[in-house]
Amino acid sequence: MDAAGWLAKAESFLAERDVPEARASAEFLLAEVLGVGRGTAAARGERALTERQAFQFWDWVKRRGRREPIAYIVGTQPFLGLDLEVSRDCLIPRPETEELVLECERLIASVPAPKILEIGTGTGCAAIALSQLLPQATIFATDVSDKALALALKNAIAHNVHHRIRFVREDLFSDRQSLRGWADLVVSNPPYVPSRDVDRLEPEVRMEPRLALDGGPDGLDAIRAIVAGAPKMLKSGGALALEIEERQGAAVSRLLNAAGFSGVHVRKDASGRDRIAVGRLPEK
Ligand SMILES: C[S@@+](CC[C@H](N)C(=O)[O-])C[C@H]1O[C@@H](n2cnc3c(N)ncnc32)[C@H](O)[C@@H]1O
Repeated sequence: MDAAGWLAKAESFLAERDVPEARASAEFLLAEVLGVGRGTAAARGERALTERQAFQFWDWVKRRGRREPIAYIVGTQPFLGLDLEVSRDCLIPRPETEELVLECERLIASVPAPKILEIGTGTGCAAIALSQLLPQATIFATDVSDKALALALKNAIAHNVHHRIRFVREDLFSDRQSLRGWADLVVSNPPYVPSRDVDRLEPEVRMEPRLALDGGPDGLDAIRAIVAGAPKMLKSGGALALEIEERQGAAVSRLLNAAGFSGVHVRKDASGRDRIAVGRLPEK
């Protein structure tokens, strides 16, 4: 069968299983199998697939039919121009987190050699992107998942920034003495989905680690701990930037103000939803 035939077969297989954007999923997977750019696979409709390509393609289509995210199937995800390895041990990096990284860059633009503490690094996407955007930065990145940390280190090595990021297994803030007053910036995309909502998420998202999603009864467990712990780790004038869920803007702003942060504000994404909360410790 030629590429066009496989594409049509895959599209109807995925559509029968209610996979969103069945055609686009099939085209993306076929392009990956053929090693060509997305969108060109369809154009190569008369090209015959080798037996190996056909086997791989159909294996991937079946996985997509079980609602496995495409990033897990192909094993990579782009993030701010970086190609990151992903696996089911970590959250798939999202565009919102690209915005968080760009906000961090703005927050510490004036600091010559910034020190950055990231809580919950996952694939290492934010730490790695920040180390590329800010070549003078020193970064300390934590997670409680050993498997995520191993992947983050692998990604950092692949992008040659491993010598500037220290990946450490650490539970939120375990009050590490050496980090007291150390950071110019604390950043986190913490688990923030309210527990009762996790089981109602799209099947693709439910395949991601619960540890990366579940933020407790109101989704704010990790955020509360970070807001309470960050002032000890920050220098005076240091900033805290958090990715939040769209309904959490007001609550997180209250938490930041109560913890003594000033200039507290919430940034919205392109669709007008609250996504990033920021505060700064007053200068002493
Ligand atoms: C929403 S994911 C974010 C991952 C990555 N930074 C990103 O933006 O794609 C949250 C991360 O926090 C980690 N995490 C969960 N509980 C934690 C804790 N108590 N201390 C440190 N990290 C934690 C999870 O393992 C997960 O990697």
